Amino acid sequence: MNALMAKGLLFAAILIGATIYVVNSMHIDLSDPINLITMIGAIAIAVLTVGVSIKYINQMKTDSASGELAEENWDGIGEYKNELPSGWAFSFLGTMIWAMWYWTMGYPVNAFSQIGQYNEEVKAYNAKFEATNKNADAATLQQMGESIFLVQCAPCHGTTGDGLSGKAHDFVDGRISKKQVLAVIKNGSNQLGYQMGAMPPMMAQGKDAEDIATYVAGGMKGKQPAAFAACASCHGADGKGMNGMAANIADYDENLITHVVKHGKKGAIGTMPAFHDRMTPIQIKALATYIKSLRGE
Ligand code: HEC
Ligand code: HEC
Repeated sequence: MNALMAKGLLFAAILIGATIYVVNSMHIDLSDPINLITMIGAIAIAVLTVGVSIKYINQMKTDSASGELAEENWDGIGEYKNELPSGWAFSFLGTMIWAMWYWTMGYPVNAFSQIGQYNEEVKAYNAKFEATNKNADAATLQQMGESIFLVQCAPCHGTTGDGLSGKAHDFVDGRISKKQVLAVIKNGSNQLGYQMGAMPPMMAQGKDAEDIATYVAGGMKGKQPAAFAACASCHGADGKGMNGMAANIADYDENLITHVVKHGKKGAIGTMPAFHDRMTPIQIKALATYIKSLRGE
């Protein structure tokens, strides 16, 4: 037996001894087959590691390079034309097949996920919330809306809903300012996800635009400017948006608030983030009830 072999055996014995020591000191029950198999596995890994290391260390000492050299060389350093070791090649192929199976069928589709569980629980809770509040009266909705508003909307719209001096939309003073209407007329609008889709820009210009904006911002009262005909084709002659096809620009209705809360809005004042599915229909209705109450409706 050469010295390398002796050192290897000693190292294997230390590894096995340490394994047995840990198993004993942790009082692991070896009559349990799983524990026993794990222990045998640990010993096998120790023996294999030492055996394979000894084989390769010996080989490095005695082997000399053989085989046919490839034609290219880099500063005199060449490369042999070796076949891929079949074990390596097969495990590489196997890993690729396994990875494809894992990503397409194994893991993502059927596995348990914490996010999935969270989403399911939120869904179940929301369904319960919707069921209990299905017939909530206006006073309840207004109260509910106030608490949601104070948490989610007040940071930008202000605790009183006044829009913090022009930083966001002012709910107390009116529905939409002249400046905003002019900006929509000039730039068009395609943010809110209405059935009509985009509103084209430059529907009116100059004095026509001014007249329309004054009329709309004033709550569509008094004589309708003739140029409003350009708007009526989508918003209706009364400005109410033809049953939800386009935005209701005459009143601040629930439909508009729902679209804004769901999709967010980029407008003349700034950008309002979308709340997507973070609110249930009843919560949005509650918000709408509360926002209307801010104007004394
Ligand atoms: C082709 C159809 C169409 C025409 C014509 C049109 N609109 Fe619109 N408008 C829309 C749609 C759809 C929206 C929905 C909002 C969005 O997509 O952002 C909208 C939104 C608006 C808004 C924003 C409402 C809000 O509070 O966010 C205003 C204001 C408006 N329109 C005013 C006008 C005026 C004034 C005219 C006439 C000069 C006009 N629109 C002509 C389709 C139209
Ligand atoms: C990060 C700030 C921010 C938050 C939070 C926020 N908003 Fe807004 N909101 C804005 C801004 C800015 C505007 C003006 C957009 C524009 O220029 O037309 C606006 C506009 C609006 C409008 C009017 C849109 C129109 O078409 O006229 C409604 C309705 C609205 N917000 C509702 C809400 C509600 C309800 C909440 C709470 C769930 C909320 N916002 C939270 C910034 C915010």
